[in-house]
Amino acid sequence: MKKFINNLILQAGKIAKNNYGKPHNIKQKSPRELVTETDKEIEDFIKSKIMKKYPGHQIVAEESDIVNKENTSHIWYIDPIDGTTNFAHNIPLFGVSIGYEFEGQMKNGAIYLPVLNELFHAEKGNGAYKDKKRAFVSKRKELINIVATTGFACIRTGKKENNIKYFSRIAPKIRSIRRMGVATLDLCYVACGKFDVFWEMRLNPWDVMAGRLIVEEAGGKITDFSGGRNIMEKQEILASNGTSIHEEILQLLQP
Ligand code: IPD
Ligand code: CA
Ligand code: CA
Repeated sequence: MKKFINNLILQAGKIAKNNYGKPHNIKQKSPRELVTETDKEIEDFIKSKIMKKYPGHQIVAEESDIVNKENTSHIWYIDPIDGTTNFAHNIPLFGVSIGYEFEGQMKNGAIYLPVLNELFHAEKGNGAYKDKKRAFVSKRKELINIVATTGFACIRTGKKENNIKYFSRIAPKIRSIRRMGVATLDLCYVACGKFDVFWEMRLNPWDVMAGRLIVEEAGGKITDFSGGRNIMEKQEILASNGTSIHEEILQLLQP
């Protein structure tokens, strides 16, 4: 399964890389939510390969309807381009994400950043990797030494709770903060210790399911803003290196 997923994501990444920087046919799902022809080309490519090899599996992909919804044992989560706004604006930060869940437990996750040529992948119980090397979270545990990253999906979806208050609370207490525009990259960079914390609200399953496995297999911690495991139900995710900073940031993420 790991070999199939990693080969597939590299082929999908090649499509994204080849189309990067060229004129795009951009459609608006909403004023702040874009989709390009490359999103759809990659999603169709990935889905066709999965459906050929694993007919009957459920596929949850960002740009199309759920396939085989009745199959709750085998579920795939596909984000064909995570960071479409970056891609459409020729900003070289975007990724392809593929996750596989078996009977309610994430078994495989892979995220490929084509322009950076970085492949992050994990298999449940077998650790996380950046390319061929094991990936581990950082050990930093003083707030003033950490670099965090976050996103504003909530603004895009027009939610009242728009993360600005959390950003203003946390930014003055830590070394620095980033907004990369690619939730999957944010999670991978926590997994390999570049970032120490990532939090965001209103993400979708295809944004987080692969990345959460990669973070946990790298020794990191993933919770909702109450410290529980209901990240999708509550549409809240806090990913960290699992040190005491997790609790400290949780305190700053209370209403
Ligand atoms: C988006 C990116 C962004 C996050 C948004 C996501 P998309 O994914 O991951 O960083 O803040 O919430 O929707 O739409 O480019 O696939
Ligand atoms: Ca996307
Ligand atoms: Ca996404």
